Amino acid sequence: MIYKTQSYPQIKIIHVILIVFFFTACKNSSQKPIVETGLKNASEFPIGTAINIDKLINDEALMALQISNFNSITATSDMKMNKILPVENEFYWQMADTILYYAKKHNQRVFGHNLIWHSSTPKWVEEKGANDSIWLAGFMKDYIHKYVSRYKGKVAGWDVVNEAFESSGGAYRKTFWYNNLGKEYIANAFRYAHEADPDAVLFYNDFNIERDTTKLNAVLKMVEEFKMNDVPIHGIGFQMHIRMDIPDEIIAYSLKKAAETGLQIHLSEVDIIFNTHNDERLGGIQKYDELTEAMKIAQAEKYKNLVLMYRRIVPKRQQFGITFWDFTDRDTWINGFFNLNDWPTIYDNNLKPKLAYFGVLEGLKVEIE
Ligand code: G3I
Repeated sequence: MIYKTQSYPQIKIIHVILIVFFFTACKNSSQKPIVETGLKNASEFPIGTAINIDKLINDEALMALQISNFNSITATSDMKMNKILPVENEFYWQMADTILYYAKKHNQRVFGHNLIWHSSTPKWVEEKGANDSIWLAGFMKDYIHKYVSRYKGKVAGWDVVNEAFESSGGAYRKTFWYNNLGKEYIANAFRYAHEADPDAVLFYNDFNIERDTTKLNAVLKMVEEFKMNDVPIHGIGFQMHIRMDIPDEIIAYSLKKAAETGLQIHLSEVDIIFNTHNDERLGGIQKYDELTEAMKIAQAEKYKNLVLMYRRIVPKRQQFGITFWDFTDRDTWINGFFNLNDWPTIYDNNLKPKLAYFGVLEGLKVEIE
């Protein structure tokens, strides 16, 4: 069996529940309650969430919120190489197939994350490829061809290569792929993906490029080189794991520079934290121990501004969409990964919409010239 056979719950009462949520959440703030049936209905471009599919289909409350708010879905982990091909010659398509099935059933776009990422390369590939770069080059080509053509016409776009630059600054990250194949592995990955599905929208995806202009410039230089050499790149993914104190002006500047390429722009992994970290696992610095009312309001404003910047700066034809990286504080990757207690998403631990949710909604609904 490829698909889970359970039926998804009917959610006829969801609109009523959401309206109650909205009024409850707005009670203690100056914000006017907004009655809406979900983020996706307020948006001109796709609104997505990244999620663990197993968790999603086994949690009726989570699924009801996912269905009512989002029309695009990304797998947080289930479509990475270490999940698809954990052992040589043994492809595990079940989870990806389940996502496709779920998305079709609920009219959602599937976004593929990701094809090549140093952090999700299976051990067996690293061991074999380290001694044989000719094998590795052939393996990468076959893997991308096989994977992308399996979902041709069904996965709308792909993060073809993820995080190929160092966390900060403009240097290529010295990953297993870079060390064995040179920087040409990036261009080749795009070529192979395009060969397998000429209609798929192909992205380069990275973090901190909204705040580190040296890193952003390096990515834009790569994009320029790709264009000169006819490498099929169609989009730039801003992961947008941001912090409350990242100035909106820098984010606006970076979005503008990226949009000038004419490529699609995807805010691909959005969340907003209060505390800080050093980009390393367990590298969190806990500065705030509780989420105060003032912090909730400030976060709502930050979310609203982010959506507004996206709408104002990125031309409509380049708006691939905004994707939230998990949408509840209960499920966020931030706390486990950085060993923090933070509140980065738009729903709280009890799956209630936060003011941040209404910030996003307002950002989507406000009329702009
Ligand atoms: O599925 C296994 C489960 O069987 C096992 O019991 C459990 C025990 O640890 O692990 C589960 O896998 C975990 C997986 O998430 C699913 O929850 C992995 O250990 C864990 O490493 C994995 O972490 C993901 C991480 O990428 C690495 O793939 C995070 O959920 C996911 O949020 C994170 O996403 C990345 C983006 O891909 C790229 N940008 C940064 C972003 C956040 O780190």
